Amino acid sequence: MSRTTRCRVCNGTVTEFFDFRRQPLSDCFLAPGSAVEKEFFFRLAIGVCAECSMVQLMEEVPRENMFHEDYPYHSSGSAYMRAHFEQFAKRLISTELTGDSPFFVEIGCNDGIMLRALADAGVPSLGVDPSGVADLAAAKGLRVRKSFFEDATAQEILEADGPADVIYAANTLCHIPYIGSVLSGVTKLLAPGGVFVFEDPYLGDIVERTSFDQIYDEHFFLFSARSVRFMAARHGLELVDVERLPVHGGEVRYTLAHRGARQPSPAVAELLAEEERRKISDLPTLEKFGENVQKICKDLTTLLLDLKSSGKRVVGYGATAKSSVVTNFCGIGPELVEFVSDITPSKQGRLTPGVHIPVRPHEEFSAAYPDYALLFAWNHAEEIMEKEQEFRAAGGKWIMYVPDVRVV
Ligand code: SAH
Ligand code: TMP
Ligand code: ZN
Repeated sequence: MSRTTRCRVCNGTVTEFFDFRRQPLSDCFLAPGSAVEKEFFFRLAIGVCAECSMVQLMEEVPRENMFHEDYPYHSSGSAYMRAHFEQFAKRLISTELTGDSPFFVEIGCNDGIMLRALADAGVPSLGVDPSGVADLAAAKGLRVRKSFFEDATAQEILEADGPADVIYAANTLCHIPYIGSVLSGVTKLLAPGGVFVFEDPYLGDIVERTSFDQIYDEHFFLFSARSVRFMAARHGLELVDVERLPVHGGEVRYTLAHRGARQPSPAVAELLAEEERRKISDLPTLEKFGENVQKICKDLTTLLLDLKSSGKRVVGYGATAKSSVVTNFCGIGPELVEFVSDITPSKQGRLTPGVHIPVRPHEEFSAAYPDYALLFAWNHAEEIMEKEQEFRAAGGKWIMYVPDVRVV
C-alpha cells in the first residue's frame, strides 16, 4: 500500500518511502517521576514530492510541542561547532556585512553561538528563537526576539529595524513545515542586495551514508539543491550558491538572493548535475535507502544482544535527538544500553524519549569506563574521540552505526 500526502512546499503529491512507525518527540527528555502515560507519540514516516522533489515528513508535530521553555538543545556544547560558526561569521563580516550600517538577522539563534561572534565584531544583529534557550542568548547581552520566525515576524522586524543584509539560519529552516510563511517573510525583510543563507543536513549525504537518524520530528525537510531551487523560485528568490559542509554528518549551505540580483556560482549547476546523476530524490533510490536502514537496525540489535549475553557493559555517548529514532525504531532500551552520557545539564538526570534510558553526566562515564560506547553523537566523532583517548587506552571500544554497524 502506498501512502500519500500533500507537499508543504508546492501542494504536489508526496509518496511515502519509509515508515519509522510510532515515535516520541526526539528532544523530550522525561524528568524523574513524570507521567509517562502523557508522553507524546506520533507516526514518523517520510516521503518525496513527485512535483518538486522535496523530501519531507508525512505527519507534522505541532511546533509548540517541540520548541518551548524546556527545549534542551544547547548549540554551544560543541567546541568544533563554535569554531565553525566563528569562522563563518568572519567570512560574512568581510564579504556581506561591509556597509556603513550592516544588519544581521538569525533565525533559530539558540543560545547565541553565532550571534556572539557578530556582536564581538560590533555588527548590529538580532536573533529570533521561540525556545527557552533564547534566554541564554539574552543573558549574554545579545539582542533576541523570543518568537517563531514567520511572515508576520519578518514584517515587524522590518518596521522596527529596516532591511537585513544577511538573514541566516543554521539547522533551523529544515525544522519549519510552514516554510512558505518563512520564505515570504524573508523576501520582505531581505535588502535588495542581501542574502539569505541557511545550512541543514543534506539529502545527498543522508542517502549516501544511510544516516537515517537525521530523520526525526524536528527535521521536517531533507533539502537538496534541486528542491531548494524550486522552493526559492516560488518566492522570487534564486539559489546563487551552495557549499558542502562536513558538520553534523554532511550539510549544504545554501545562499539565496532576490531573483536577478546575483549571478549564480558554478557550484550550483555542479551540485544539481551531481544530484541528477545520483538520482538522490528518485523513489527507487529512496526505497533502497529504506532497505539499508532495516539492515543497520538488525545488525545493531544483534551486536548489542551478543555483547549483553557475553556480559559486556555498553553505554551510549551523546543523548542526541538523532538517537531517539535509533533506539525507538530498533527497540534499544536500558536492558541493552546502561545509560547515555551527555554534557548538557538540561538532559542529565532525565530519561531518553520513548525507551527511557537514563541520561547521566559525563563524569559517570569517566569514573568507570564501560567496555563499549555506542556513539550516538557520531557527527561529533572527531572532537569526541580526540578527548576520549583515555577510554581507548583503558581498552574501551566505540560502536558506530553510520554508514554501517562496526566496532572501532
Ligand atoms: N542554529 C543553532 C540551533 C539549531 S536548533 C545551531 O545550528 O546549532 C534549532 C533551533 O531552531 C531551536 O533553538 C529552535 O527553538 C529554533 N526554531 C524552531 N522553529 C523556529 C522558528 N520558526 N523561528 C525561529 N527559530 C525556530
Ligand atoms: P547534536 O548531535 O544534535 O549536536 O547533539 C550532540 C549531543 O551530544 C548533545 O546533547 C551534547 C552531547 N555531547 C556530549 O555529551 N559530549 C560531547 O563532547 C559533544 C560534542 C556532545
Ligand atoms: Zn512539492
